[in-house]
Amino acid sequence: MRYEMANRLGVAVSEIGLGCWQLGGDWGDTDDDRSQEILHAAADAGTTFFDTADVYGDGLSERAIGRFLRDRDNASEIFVATKMGRRLDPHVAEGYTLDNFRAWTDRSRENLGVETLDLVQLHCPPSEVMHDPRTFENLRVLVDEGRIKHFGVSIELVEDGLHVLGEDDLASIQVILNVFRRKPTEHLLREAHERGVAIIARVPLASGLLSGKYDEHTTFAANDHRTYNRDGSAFDVGETFSGVPFEVGVRAAQDVAALTPPGWTTAQLALRWVTQIGATTVIPGARTPEQARGNSAVGELPQIDDATMASLAGIYNSEIREHVHSRW
Ligand SMILES: NC(=O)c1ccc[n+]([C@@H]2O[C@H](COP(=O)([O-])OP(=O)(O)OC[C@H]3O[C@@H](n4cnc5c(N)ncnc54)[C@H](OP(=O)(O)O)[C@@H]3O)[C@@H](O)[C@H]2O)c1
Repeated sequence: MRYEMANRLGVAVSEIGLGCWQLGGDWGDTDDDRSQEILHAAADAGTTFFDTADVYGDGLSERAIGRFLRDRDNASEIFVATKMGRRLDPHVAEGYTLDNFRAWTDRSRENLGVETLDLVQLHCPPSEVMHDPRTFENLRVLVDEGRIKHFGVSIELVEDGLHVLGEDDLASIQVILNVFRRKPTEHLLREAHERGVAIIARVPLASGLLSGKYDEHTTFAANDHRTYNRDGSAFDVGETFSGVPFEVGVRAAQDVAALTPPGWTTAQLALRWVTQIGATTVIPGARTPEQARGNSAVGELPQIDDATMASLAGIYNSEIREHVHSRW
């Protein structure tokens, strides 16, 4: 495993992390024993960065990580990034207050069983929250009070990421970055790196599309967002298959699969692309221990060659760009 340093996080983290949304729900049924197996499989393979949110299973994902931390000899080496804001209902800017920040982070500290949260990210807040200086003043209060070590923002729109980079002590930006979502490579990655801000790349497999294993007949469980959020009726449609229409994504993923180097899986090719392009850490959401091990093993893979990188760019430009590039 390679470990990447972003100065604002103050600690090197594994370039392959683990996304933990699926431990809470929205990806079919959950099972706590299975969740523990996935967490330990990733950590045993050298993963030290884990991403969760207070809203995933309304705390279920955080509590699973809390149990995992208690059982782990190397818990002090594990970095847990959580998020807050999405438990607001309705999800409106007025709810992003200091009182709520305190209550939300206290709940996450209890769920995770830690005194101080390593990193709390605003969970794709309304743009006006990111343009309100009080938001960041209040986050600094949480640092001063010892509730959190660092704060960051998870964004939908690249332009929001460029805006929050103006905050001197912002530690991280979480963004969708994958073979089907390349816009952050235009400016955001370089601007973040210059400031020592960590880039946390989410949805790196385009919700599984980039494993290359689905076809037009593939179906998902009724309680899986890949069934119920295909039209964006539950949350931003960009979070499901990266906003690429399913049939378009299946065809393009088959073209990606044809480029898979011998001995690699297509999922590994997709994840290696994200690390090679410059993410600090990439957080695939493994649903099995085998997936977690396969994903963490990307931290041992060599570089993708230039010809394959160019072919991946070609697939994006000819098949995907028109569906996503101007939107997010
Ligand atoms: N707004 C936000 O801040 C936000 C939004 C979304 C996600 N996130 C974070 O980003 C993380 C990752 O994103 P994501 O889970 O939405 O999408 P993802 O990582 O692109 O896709 C996850 C899916 O890919 C498949 N997969 C994973 N590893 C695989 C492997 N080795 N081989 C084959 N298939 C594999 C699994 O689906 P199947 O087994 O069903 O094929 C899995 O459920 C989340 O867990 C969460 O922490 C944050």
